[in-house]
Amino acid sequence: MTDPILKVDNILTGYDGVPVIHGISLDINPGELVAIVGANGAGKTSTMRTIAGLMKPTAGSIHFNGEDISRLPAHMVLRRGISYVPEGRRLFSKLTVRENLVLGAYMEKDKHEIEGRIEELYRLFPVLESRSSQVAETLSGGEQQMLAIARGMMSKPRLLMLDEMSLGLMPALVEKMMDTIVQVNRNGVTILLVEQMVQEALEIAHRGYVLQTGRIVESGPAESLLDSEQVRKAYMGM
Ligand SMILES: Nc1ncnc2c1ncn2[C@@H]1O[C@H](COP(=O)(O)OP(=O)(O)OP(=O)(O)O)[C@@H](O)[C@H]1O
Ligand SMILES: [Mg+2]
Repeated sequence: MTDPILKVDNILTGYDGVPVIHGISLDINPGELVAIVGANGAGKTSTMRTIAGLMKPTAGSIHFNGEDISRLPAHMVLRRGISYVPEGRRLFSKLTVRENLVLGAYMEKDKHEIEGRIEELYRLFPVLESRSSQVAETLSGGEQQMLAIARGMMSKPRLLMLDEMSLGLMPALVEKMMDTIVQVNRNGVTILLVEQMVQEALEIAHRGYVLQTGRIVESGPAESLLDSEQVRKAYMGM
């Protein structure tokens, strides 16, 4: 057994003293695609923001590659190799596709290296190459989401955290998005995925955690969660 790349141990966090995460523990192994699923307000985004260093846990710990990162500020967490793609895209809307990508590598000074990364991403997302000089706000929703993921990969993360990539996409595009995420994972990037689209997420994930009001209520191999009566009743309307 290899050691997990990310180990979240019993973290508590909240907003202005109001707790919303009540002791979450999870592990991610190198190369895995892990999904956190749950309804609105379950605490999925808060969990990711805490891992990313945007919120501080009031208790518990987060280890990445064996190092305690629980108290590190977000830019240091990014430097360690964790890239967080937040909900709602947050692109630089007036900048072009290429400019958005360049800004995703702001920690890297070597221009040659940055160019190499862009070319690599263009192979993975050909649609972005064809729209290289188009400003981000004129891209379709699906293209913007691709750009958000690609920008998140410009820092060459060891762990990519994707928050609700399916949001606002029509079903056919959700499927395409999921295929893209699988492809990114197969290219060697460990992924933590957060989704309200429970079925779609569990269909592509290796393992999953079901979050309910700040607690993990079920976890395990994705296929057993897909079979779980509790999960099917609560999230798939079956
Ligand atoms: N900035 C904030 N200030 C106060 N409370 C917040 C804030 N952000 C989130 N919360 C609360 O924390 C809880 C968890 O929210 P969170 O955004 O983590 O859920 P989520 O699972 O990502 O939901 P969604 O699927 O709607 O994105 C909710 O009760 C929410 O109201
Ligand atoms: Mg959220």
